Amino acid sequence: MNFHVMTLFPEMIMQGLSSSILGRALERGLISLNAVNIRDYTLDKHKRVDDYPYGGGAGMVMSVDPVVRCYRAIFSEITRKGGQKEKKVRVIYLTPQGKTFTQEMAKELAEEEDLIFLCGHYEGIDERAIEMVVTEQISIGDYVLTGGELPVMVMIDAISRLVPGVLNNGNSAEFETFHDHLLEYPQYTRPEVYEGREVPEILLSGHHAKIEEWRRKQSILRTKEARPDLLGRAVQEGCLNKREMTFWRELEQGWE
Ligand code: ADE
Repeated sequence: MNFHVMTLFPEMIMQGLSSSILGRALERGLISLNAVNIRDYTLDKHKRVDDYPYGGGAGMVMSVDPVVRCYRAIFSEITRKGGQKEKKVRVIYLTPQGKTFTQEMAKELAEEEDLIFLCGHYEGIDERAIEMVVTEQISIGDYVLTGGELPVMVMIDAISRLVPGVLNNGNSAEFETFHDHLLEYPQYTRPEVYEGREVPEILLSGHHAKIEEWRRKQSILRTKEARPDLLGRAVQEGCLNKREMTFWRELEQGWE
């Protein structure tokens, strides 16, 4: 998986993604990260990449030409390397105006060979740049950040961990939060007792089936508490087995 990021702050992207699991994935060549400075593509003699908005108003707008030229340079590099030739490479613009990013979107994007991201700054980007290069607009949530750099790092992290080999544990991406629309169950490690707080006895029993049942129940309880909307989907889509459905019905009737 090759990530290409058009940004005014390439060092922020490189630094933000070069540690821990993603740093290792980069070293192992499972993913690659190409943060390209949009400023390198301005023809302005003062290296300006923004201008005043037509029609007036506060703030500055990112100019169309550096963005389009930056995109074309990245695209020809991808095709030169023999990447996605026929198929258009998806170009994602990070903006609060976009569709909200979800785990399903991360899964789908993880199938691509190359992805290009466009990070905005200032008050926005000239609409023609969006029309000319962007294929989809994505938001990471209903709040406004100062630029697209943090959102793109969030997306790259979520997508990368779904790329085969990035997580050492072969199945850990499968059995976690949002699997079956349920939140994750509580985890414990040594010591068995900490300042009087004990690890639930069932986890020390060695009884795998019972432990699994307990964990699923914990997941259901947590999801009901924090994300009843998700639990509704789990029920509707038949993600709970017969026993779990009984448990859910009891919860709904307040028999906890
Ligand atoms: N740029 C600024 N805020 C953003 C958000 N919430 N999501 C994606 N891009 C953004």
